[in-house]
Amino acid sequence: MIPTAITLVLAALGATASPVEPRAADGLNTRAVAAGKQYFGSATDNGELTDSAYVAGLSNTADFGQITPGNSMKWDTIEPSRGTFNYANGDVIANLAAKNGQYLRCHTLVWYNQLPSWVTNGGFDNATLISILKNHITNEVTHYKGKCLHWDVVNEALNEDGTYRTNVFYNTIGPAYIPIAFAAAAAADPSAKLYYNDYNIEAAGAKSTGAQNIVKLVKAYGAKIDGVGMQAHLIVGSTGSESVSAWTTNMNAFTALGVDVAITELDIRTNTPATAAAVTQQAKDYATVIQGCKAVARCVGMTIWDYTDKYSWIPSVFSGQGAALPWDENLNKKAAVYDAMMSAWGTGTGTTPTATPTASVPASSTTTTAAPATSSAASGGTVPKWGQCGGIGWTGPTQCVAGTTCTKGNDYYSQCL
Ligand SMILES: *[C@@H]1O[C@H](CO)[C@@H](O)[C@H](O)[C@H]1NC(C)=O
Repeated sequence: MIPTAITLVLAALGATASPVEPRAADGLNTRAVAAGKQYFGSATDNGELTDSAYVAGLSNTADFGQITPGNSMKWDTIEPSRGTFNYANGDVIANLAAKNGQYLRCHTLVWYNQLPSWVTNGGFDNATLISILKNHITNEVTHYKGKCLHWDVVNEALNEDGTYRTNVFYNTIGPAYIPIAFAAAAAADPSAKLYYNDYNIEAAGAKSTGAQNIVKLVKAYGAKIDGVGMQAHLIVGSTGSESVSAWTTNMNAFTALGVDVAITELDIRTNTPATAAAVTQQAKDYATVIQGCKAVARCVGMTIWDYTDKYSWIPSVFSGQGAALPWDENLNKKAAVYDAMMSAWGTGTGTTPTATPTASVPASSTTTTAAPATSSAASGGTVPKWGQCGGIGWTGPTQCVAGTTCTKGNDYYSQCL
């Protein structure tokens, strides 16, 4: 870690550490830390790690104090067939984080997508699927025990209207699969912070309320949940980036339940090629997200979903869109965007960072919480602009608000644009 490196350098020079330590280098992470956060980080993936210029940028801890494996800790990679565990790719990312002195956000244990067909189509009964779920979680969390700052335990369990997404776990076990997953993860690594992670929960609304209900549900079962990850796959100028107060109001609704929040998969896409006006707006939007997190003590950190457009998932999934990240396809910083992000974190004072917020575990909730109901298939209602309107497994409304069209992003996701 940087402070250790500084100490070693100072020691080598025969200097004594002053109470106000200089920062080794100025960057997004050092500024986030100076603002009281634990980290600013980036997702990465195994295929990119042969690109040495890319790895050098990722390993620059002035900018990135944390990394998240994009795919290699997901169920289809880890347990492709029942009882066969494959940690090779996940280990590569975990080892890179350790070598660089970066925190690791481990992602993700229970998700309906990238789930092997032996799970989805196995026809398991409730007790058997619970044992499969627990076995998967126990095995994987034990393998990475002590290495994960956070675990995204359950990912994307909600529909846009805040009801539970139907998937094999929900259909077979019911909502109990969520607290069962958290309890299994907590038992396997008591020191990892356990997160629920989802998209379109960055602004107040039905889905954000649904995520708050998941926090209450897990606590009502007596299981531990430490935080909620707001993915923040945003669109230039759209919901989720409009105002700092919108961010803080929504984040405070979660922290009031006794959990931390983190921005876990931030990118802000636009039509490509990006216009100058779009880049200007994008710089503002990134700054708004940072200011929102900065203003909430229990917003512990922020992760962008890779740092360069060269390896962004956006163009392959949202046709005609991209340019979503602060570094361009040639690994160059986009000056306007990067500078806006740096300014938003603040110039920093060079003082020792304030204590990071502790993820205190409040007493489990004693109030009984009504679990969100499942939406009836293709239930009525209109999907707002940017909302999900279709995709495999989608049971929510499909009618887009006037002036927008339901547009396919990929097989799993269509959106009103
Ligand atoms: C499955 O079993 C669990 C644990 O006993 C229980 O909480 C849950 O309600 C059951 N689900 C169904 C659909 O019966």
